[in-house]
Amino acid sequence: MDDRLAIYPGSFDPFTYGHLDIVERASRIFTRVQVTVAVNTSKDVLLSSEERCQLIAECTGHFANVEVTSFEGLLVDYARSCGASVLVRGLRQVSDFDFEFRMAFANRRLSPDLETVFLMTSEEHALISASIVREIHDWNGDVSSFVPPPVLKALKAKHA
Ligand code: PNS
Repeated sequence: MDDRLAIYPGSFDPFTYGHLDIVERASRIFTRVQVTVAVNTSKDVLLSSEERCQLIAECTGHFANVEVTSFEGLLVDYARSCGASVLVRGLRQVSDFDFEFRMAFANRRLSPDLETVFLMTSEEHALISASIVREIHDWNGDVSSFVPPPVLKALKAKHA
């Protein structure tokens, strides 16, 4: 295992300022951070996994120790294949904790050496969620305060 490699997994559909905030915090703590996009086989997605990876790479290009990958299947299997020792998850509010708590325990049971580390977003991003962004976008609303410019451009193109 690589003690210095942390994986930050998620759907990132789309990648928001809240996600970016967590990437920045993780990049300051860990030597290497992999933002890894869960490939969702369901058709009900706003952006394809390739689009999501490309956009995250554009939004995080200024962090020298951050790379972007994707995975399919169980997260613990992917983490093992990379030799990662840490999973990073962002917490916005107490209501996130229920799901996160269960996921962290399931992952720990499957892979006891893989440690889940929770990082708190800054207050200004605590109310952003990808699902809210998707809903506003569905109704052609302005999501410019929720997502970084490359994501905004890609979302606008979906309505063009
Ligand atoms: O951004 P999200 O949707 O909250 O991310 C959830 C994600 C993709 C990290 C989680 O659903 C996941 O790890 N999926 C892969 C399948 C898996 O390993 N499930 C077991 C964990 S309970």
